[in-house]
Amino acid sequence: MRVMHEGPHPVTPDDITAAARKSFDQAPDERLRFLLQRLVEHLHAYARDVRLTREEWAAAIAFLTEAGHTCTDTRQELILLSDTLGLSMLVDAVEHAAPAGATESTVLGPFHVEGSPLRSMGASIVEQEGSGEPAFLTGTVRDLDGQPVGGALVDIWQNAANRMYAVQDPAQPPENLRGRFLTGPDGAFAFWTVRPVDYPIPDDGPVGRMLAATGRHPWRPAHVHLMVSAPGFRTVATHFFDRTSQRLDGDAVFGVKPSLVVDFEPHGPDEPGAPDGWDATWYTLHQDVVLAPAPAAGDPDQPAGAASTEERGSQPGRWDS
Ligand code: BEZ
Ligand code: FE
Repeated sequence: MRVMHEGPHPVTPDDITAAARKSFDQAPDERLRFLLQRLVEHLHAYARDVRLTREEWAAAIAFLTEAGHTCTDTRQELILLSDTLGLSMLVDAVEHAAPAGATESTVLGPFHVEGSPLRSMGASIVEQEGSGEPAFLTGTVRDLDGQPVGGALVDIWQNAANRMYAVQDPAQPPENLRGRFLTGPDGAFAFWTVRPVDYPIPDDGPVGRMLAATGRHPWRPAHVHLMVSAPGFRTVATHFFDRTSQRLDGDAVFGVKPSLVVDFEPHGPDEPGAPDGWDATWYTLHQDVVLAPAPAAGDPDQPAGAASTEERGSQPGRWDS
């Protein structure tokens, strides 16, 4: 039952919620007004529901402050918090479910670097020996009718056998295991990389403490990241997850979707195509990427800031995070 106090000053919990909500009534931007009024309602409902104490709220503010201070140019603790709370995947799911047949999106994660080297088709993204077991990845970027998409930019990044992305690891060349490939008219992409491995998300900060305090592990199943964009199509940020990973059932950031789980085919060193000088198992993976058409201009589903054709060379769209 709502208990409102008659008078100019908010006194009861309901008064306070109503006053905070009303304080945004004159916001000129309709969407901003809606977002903030609903935020007030939900935050207040949460505080009442859990009977939040001042001590708990102070601890939460201290946690968020520390998470902010943990952020650097290469570390984004607040994205990690959103990821580990399932919020990143939820926002993605709410904003756009992929139409049937299109490659599904998943979490972008904090290790994507803008402007990875543009490499020639079939080249290797491995810049350091010992990065892992060789794997040759091929596929075709297609539209929903199965037609190849030429001029698609396939942006790839992944970790090395030591579990780290180059951006986390000063011992790796900065562009190790990342690169961009532009498809020709046949829509095909191909590159050498290594087989990715399971790894823990960065857990030496406040988010790691939250996981430890709640008995959660920080592991993600092995995956290759890719972000694929093309003029006239919706950019998709997604992963290829390795089916043999032991962590598929417990991704710390809830990113696994069955359609994204793929099979790396093992090959012996004597099989045709084996990398020069490699005398152990190597792998191939063939997986197409199917792009959905971009929402029409003016469609509310089209996020502000979508990359134009001109921008795509240096700034792939990042709104799928
Ligand atoms: C990643 O896959 O790179 C990632 C995603 C979310 C949080 C941490 C890492
Ligand atoms: Fe990753």
